[in-house]
Amino acid sequence: MATVLAIETSCDETAVAIVKNRHVISSIVSSQIAIHRQYGGVVPEVASRQHVEIVNQAIAQSLTESGLGWSDIDAIAATCAPGLVGALLVGLTAAKTLALVHQKPLIGVHHLEGHIYASYLTDPTLEPPFLCLLVSGGHTSLIYVKECGVYEILGQTRDDAAGEAFDKVARLLNLGYPGGPILDRLATEGNPKAFPLPEGKVSKPEGGFHRYDSSFSGLKTAVLRLTQTLQQSGQPLPVNDIAASFQATVAKALTRRAIACALDYGLNTIVVGGGVAANSGLRQHLQDVASQHNLRVLFPPMKFCTDNAAMIGCAAAEHFEKGHRSPLTLGAQSRLPV
Ligand code: KG4
Ligand code: ZN
Repeated sequence: MATVLAIETSCDETAVAIVKNRHVISSIVSSQIAIHRQYGGVVPEVASRQHVEIVNQAIAQSLTESGLGWSDIDAIAATCAPGLVGALLVGLTAAKTLALVHQKPLIGVHHLEGHIYASYLTDPTLEPPFLCLLVSGGHTSLIYVKECGVYEILGQTRDDAAGEAFDKVARLLNLGYPGGPILDRLATEGNPKAFPLPEGKVSKPEGGFHRYDSSFSGLKTAVLRLTQTLQQSGQPLPVNDIAASFQATVAKALTRRAIACALDYGLNTIVVGGGVAANSGLRQHLQDVASQHNLRVLFPPMKFCTDNAAMIGCAAAEHFEKGHRSPLTLGAQSRLPV
């Protein structure tokens, strides 16, 4: 198996990692959250500039921590899509330069492939086929992973992504950014049955795969209405109960679709990926329901749920083994299907 140095700069984390045999040798994640928090979300131009400041030292630090030299590295990988183009270009350009200077193959990686293969760090023996429930700030997808590079999207969100719903609900409750981890923490102190909320049914059968699609905008609106009603009572807002009820509803909606999809397609392993894979409510509920159906569920290690470069290295190593290489002319793309 290959030893890969991987760079991830698709959004607001500058990350560099070295991965060998589905094991992390070193992983650096420099988060810009504190910088973007004052704006309530990620500002693209600020993100690009910050990546430029950090990326070289992150590469040097990753190499030093690994104890390896350039001669030990088989390939250089970088996220090339989707994401903020200016941000992606920083990592991709750094990777191209390293590939050229050190005469190593370049491997461009789709960000979502990174999230899919993050669970290889939990179980290095994992192999496709499996179903991936990908739940991040930008995606809520059910992906049939047939083999590396061969994917079929079976379900998607019709509106907000799961992580986006967490972020928006946290914002309307004035809790800060990013909302997922904050709501997760508050939910542990609340009653998940305090307020019944709508799971967000998708009623219009468009495009064939509606059964596995999700929708979170109705749920978000329901939380807004609930909050407004509670505020009118003049009592302090029961934020913990709202967080717990919201989180339980998202967990139920995602679990229902993932389990139905796995059973329908005869897939006995569900691999979860993306920032929302860190959510304690989802982890617990999906695990419980899956075990009732004799399905296996795998989550990435907690610190590799949100954006990092180790997952990009894992995906790149799979491509490397298959003989895939990217040209030095490879461009960055803001949108690209997996
Ligand atoms: O995968 P990720 O780091 O970036 C994207 O590719 O989008 O995911 C970030 C998203 C954010 O929306 C964040 O609020 C959410 O993941 N998130 C969580 C948790 N940790 C991060 N959502 C729910 N519970 C968490 N513990
Ligand atoms: Zn991500």
